Amino acid sequence: MGFLTSSIQVGARHARCAAQWQPHLLRTKAAILNAAALAQDRRMAVVFGAGLLHDIPLRELSSMFEEVVLVDIVHTLRTRLLAMIFSNVRLCALDVTGVATKLSKIVRGCEEALPRSEPRAFLDEKRLDFSVSVNLLSQLGWVPGRFLEGVRPEQDVAHMQRHLLEAHLHYLRHLPGHTALITDVRWRSELPPGAPVVVEPVAAQGWDVLQGVTLPETAAVWDWNIAPAPERSLHLDYIATVHAYPDWKHSCALTSA
Ligand SMILES: C[S@@+](CC[C@H](N)C(=O)[O-])C[C@H]1O[C@@H](n2cnc3c(N)ncnc32)[C@H](O)[C@@H]1O
Repeated sequence: MGFLTSSIQVGARHARCAAQWQPHLLRTKAAILNAAALAQDRRMAVVFGAGLLHDIPLRELSSMFEEVVLVDIVHTLRTRLLAMIFSNVRLCALDVTGVATKLSKIVRGCEEALPRSEPRAFLDEKRLDFSVSVNLLSQLGWVPGRFLEGVRPEQDVAHMQRHLLEAHLHYLRHLPGHTALITDVRWRSELPPGAPVVVEPVAAQGWDVLQGVTLPETAAVWDWNIAPAPERSLHLDYIATVHAYPDWKHSCALTSA
């Protein structure tokens, strides 16, 4: 469905934009460790969206927990090699939405109805003390959205994308142990600071990347210069606003109170 290509693209962009990404990667690692410190016990930790491990403090997690599980739909060679360094780190190849296979059947015309996402992995894992979803949420709708483009009406695809995000948030709330969430929520494009005046008019704009799903307020908010010029635009930087929730269940409880 394009997950591997997408992962390779993230790796390539990281190599090109290492300096601009660094503050975000450090903030993410710190947020993960802050959240992990709130876990009541230190048996198993699960990282959803481990990807290429750029933003995962693997060494620290490995020494904090008896076992660390790195979940992603695709694990690149880099991740496999890094994970091998630590005897208590294991990889788990998993589609956290649980619908990818069904979507590919729909595209091949083998299935009709759009599936419901009802993830169950780790829900009965009694040793699970800490889970964190890392810069994954906004991605959950993107690849399926591209995949279904032209196959299903735009409105149905948008509805499906939103459902995938909501199902992940619901899942995090119901996992055993302490849970945390780190995600980009909005993107904006703007001229880099000190950029010379350009000849062509360039429109700075902002847009939601969570398909209309709103998240609670949080004190932990930062910018990620995800695609500095000229990555996506010759003149504009693309900047993501990232939110961290060190205690996702507590944040949800406050919202529903
Ligand atoms: C922006 S990356 C997160 C950053 C990552 N921690 C890193 O350092 O590369 C998003 C990750 O989510 C993964 N992903 C996207 N959809 C997924 C799904 N349905 N199930 C599991 N992982 C998924 C991608 O493979 C990718 O590694």
